[in-house]
Amino acid sequence: MKTLIKNARVVTPTGIESVSVLVDGDKIAAMDVAVQTVADVTVDAAGLFLIPGVIDDQVHFRDPGLTHKEDLATASRACAKGGVTTFLEMPNTVPPAITQALLDEKLALAAEKSLVNYGFYIGATPDNIDEISAAKNTPGIKIFIGSSTGNLLVDEQEALERIFAETTLPITAHCEDEATVRANAKKYANSTDVSDHSRIRDHAAAIVATRRAMDLAFRHNHRFHVLHVSTGAETELLADHRGLITAEACPHHLLLNVDDYARLGTLAQANPSLKTAEDSQQLWQALLDERIQVVATDHAPHTLEEKRQPFPKAPSGVPCIENSLALMLNEVNRGRCTLEQVIHWMCDAPARVWDIVDKGRIVEGYDADLVLVDLGRTAQVRNEEQLTKCGWSPWDGEKLTGWPVRTWVMGCEVFCEGKLDTSRPGRAAKFDHARGGYWATAE
Ligand code: DOR
Repeated sequence: MKTLIKNARVVTPTGIESVSVLVDGDKIAAMDVAVQTVADVTVDAAGLFLIPGVIDDQVHFRDPGLTHKEDLATASRACAKGGVTTFLEMPNTVPPAITQALLDEKLALAAEKSLVNYGFYIGATPDNIDEISAAKNTPGIKIFIGSSTGNLLVDEQEALERIFAETTLPITAHCEDEATVRANAKKYANSTDVSDHSRIRDHAAAIVATRRAMDLAFRHNHRFHVLHVSTGAETELLADHRGLITAEACPHHLLLNVDDYARLGTLAQANPSLKTAEDSQQLWQALLDERIQVVATDHAPHTLEEKRQPFPKAPSGVPCIENSLALMLNEVNRGRCTLEQVIHWMCDAPARVWDIVDKGRIVEGYDADLVLVDLGRTAQVRNEEQLTKCGWSPWDGEKLTGWPVRTWVMGCEVFCEGKLDTSRPGRAAKFDHARGGYWATAE
């Protein structure tokens, strides 16, 4: 099947150009073809931007084991609506994905249920070094250096040294120092004020753990990706990447801060916690000067009933997958960044960090994972319209300008103006770790 996407605006290295793109099967077959080229389907994209599908490198889709919150079918529909064509999912499912057999089970579940492309990290434990050093078909190893949702935790120095020394896959981690968090939690043991979440999971907790993980990466010469950076001080550490370190920021840390607890209560509770408006500003600055390379969501759905429990009973995490692109496009319209930067942070950079084959760019021969964006459309985020099973968003009621309107996954249109085609073309992403990651592929 051939699809011609006619007269789309595409961000190219030399600026924004009007381009007609021919998709043949699951690949981008040709760029800048004559508009009279004959195809099975022709899409008039005049006035719209065509961008590579978003690759979200940090999501929690709860399947298997926690499917009352989310599952791979609901989450991948939310992805298609939000312009996310590939997700990389975290191992804190039930059971946790800590062996190749459990990883393969998740891949099989996704092959059955997912509308978009997928990959799954393998989780580190203090004693699964054999599994994580031999793991295949995975973007990399996830370590919870501090505990969060679930019971995955590796914070003993000896175990961490072994993981960095004896494995070769890229490593990523949740960086909040367990000892700091526990000591702070004692101080606020009787608190029912959710803003104390940011005093328990404080700046020091994030900085100590990120510094510790970066030190391990440098000493063992091991690639390492810092998930959900939340403090300005961590962005200063990230200036020293030595070709090994990359990092990610999430929309909730970029766009919300501790002042939002008054409005959102426990809905804004996340790990790492929200920090100050100044920290958010520093995260933006780090994105703009490439100390942080990736924007991803940490989509962490919990039901409203669970989230509305009082602090400290409410679980941590915010859902974001179907609004992340719109939230960032809204920032383009506000003048905070350019569309080119958003494409870099959400499409190209994650493909390079995780060595994903043939994704993240609009070039001939790459996979036809594509999104048409209407940069001028204004619409409200509404809880009632969320496709994520948890059915809410911390941005409920917010008006955003700039929305994905059509999404193709491997050449199949999965979302068009509010309508989904659920025939499930999603496939396992391929990882070629010999590429060496983000810095090795810098141009
Ligand atoms: O707030 C969070 N929730 N942070 C994490 O790292 C885990 C996530 C979850 O799985 O709920």
